[in-house]
Amino acid sequence: MIRRILQAAALAAAALFLPWQAQAGGPADPTRGEALAEARGCAACHGPRGVSPVPLMPSLAGQQAEFLVLQMILFREGLRQVPAMVEPLRGLTDRDLADIAAWYASLPSAPEPDRGPRDPALAARGAEISAARHCGACHLPDYSGRANVPRINHQREDYLIHTLAQYRDNLRIGADTQMNGLMYGLSNQDIRALAHYLAHRD
Ligand code: HEC
Ligand code: HEC
Repeated sequence: MIRRILQAAALAAAALFLPWQAQAGGPADPTRGEALAEARGCAACHGPRGVSPVPLMPSLAGQQAEFLVLQMILFREGLRQVPAMVEPLRGLTDRDLADIAAWYASLPSAPEPDRGPRDPALAARGAEISAARHCGACHLPDYSGRANVPRINHQREDYLIHTLAQYRDNLRIGADTQMNGLMYGLSNQDIRALAHYLAHRD
């Protein structure tokens, strides 16, 4: 209950912040964001230009800026609990997060560097589930996302499996509970198929 209230408060702050930033703070500054990411060592886990070569670490390149800011606020406020993300974000302001997000959003996305071979049957099964659950309605037909809906194309397969299972099992509750409901009833094999399909698109 307290968690939900805190979450609502953090998101209300984020919602207030985003328009404010455009008015009073000027547009986000990707060059400053790059310097902050460099100083904080984000590359060690997320790759030098946001394409992650590290198992289970999400790629950030070409990700939607609004989604990135919201997730970093959730980490900073302890609402999305990932211990590895606590130190890197310590003491950063909303303005800092907007600049970092602008930098990652500006980088070209790419498939994971060590992507394994595509299994056509598994990918076809994933495409079927995506069509049946309308994943492209929110994430867009090319899965590049928009605003607070993330890019899920060019994401690591292992991270997709991990995070989709977390949504299903209510271990990751995002800005809202839409994804939790959408994953309801999918088996581990269904999740593997979805992740394989998404990670093997060009
Ligand atoms: C020690 C490794 C590590 C470092 C350093 C690190 N991260 Fe992360 N980051 C993670 C892990 C692990 C996750 C989440 C994986 C999960 O949800 O299970 C994550 C997730 C994220 C996400 C959410 C992405 C998504 O698709 O949901 C963002 C945004 C992010 N990190 C930004 C940053 C930034 C910016 C920095 C530097 C200020 C940074 N990270 C430094 C390990 C790291
Ligand atoms: C009603 C709109 C909607 C639909 C339909 C939808 N999503 Fe999402 N999805 C979202 C939103 C919003 C988020 C961000 C939630 C958060 O803050 O955690 C998200 C987050 C995600 C993430 C996390 C990405 C990351 O980098 O952390 C994945 C993966 C994902 N969705 C996959 C899917 C798949 C697969 C489907 C179809 C089974 C689907 N989504 C259907 C709205 C939707």
